[in-house]
Amino acid sequence: MRIKLASKAGFCYGVKRAIDLALSTAKEKAGNIYTLGPLIHNPQVVQNLAENGICEINDIGEVKEGTVIIRSHGVGPEIIQAAREKGLKVLDATCPFVARAQKYAHEMAAQGIPVYILGDPGHPEVQGILGWTEGKGSVIDNPSEITRVEHPKVGVVAQTTQPLSNFQALLEALQNQGVEVDARNTICHATGERQRAAMELAREVDVMVVVGGKNSANTKKLAKICQETGTPTYHVESARELRKEWFLGHEIVGLTAGASTPDAIIEEVKKRMNEMDQMTNGEEGMSEAMEV
Ligand code: F3S
Repeated sequence: MRIKLASKAGFCYGVKRAIDLALSTAKEKAGNIYTLGPLIHNPQVVQNLAENGICEINDIGEVKEGTVIIRSHGVGPEIIQAAREKGLKVLDATCPFVARAQKYAHEMAAQGIPVYILGDPGHPEVQGILGWTEGKGSVIDNPSEITRVEHPKVGVVAQTTQPLSNFQALLEALQNQGVEVDARNTICHATGERQRAAMELAREVDVMVVVGGKNSANTKKLAKICQETGTPTYHVESARELRKEWFLGHEIVGLTAGASTPDAIIEEVKKRMNEMDQMTNGEEGMSEAMEV
């Protein structure tokens, strides 16, 4: 059995940066360190951070002192202000690509124009961007939601993980309303690249394995894309979940991982798949020998 790794898989720049920042702060032993929400959507990494003394909180109100790390999804300015007013040290690990979307949204709102944020209304990144619009923002999940626009000019930014086709559809829907659109494409290439690489690989292999947190939206999306190619696809969080039967009789197995999956977990999965293959070959060799 041959295992092929997708050309782009695993940690993206923003996630790696956030984890490096958190771990280097922990090494400085500068008091209690907290992350506002899980730093990334991967239970193994969150566990490792906890072992390094970095704990997760859900609200600034839960702590009285220490350092609060803002994760790569970012937050609205009111949260940073509330943390500083409490005397907490703020370590901002917002991904620079998310920070750019926040900055554009803030600038547009400051010019007095309504800001549409294309994205999932429940996602923390979108909530964070919304926080920078001074009440002038609204979240659009689906471009077909645009029916009537009252203002002659509107601004548009996107959640970094949005498909480009969705962004283009929203611009078209707004232009059809005859309004002037200040569109800023804030989609991050890391997501698109991983999705394209996963799809291409899924098309050429017999089975796909997607590694990443079951609560990671981008990993679930990768698994869905692979599944849609018709190739049997398995989403696992760790090597422990792999089953030998998935690979029986297959020659090429594809492997990819979400943007929040560390290299060590990908390597462990690959190693376990190789071990399973060797065990299977060993068993076949034994049964052939017995037949003779
Ligand atoms: Fe940043 Fe893109 Fe990753 S926005 S957190 S580099 S997916």
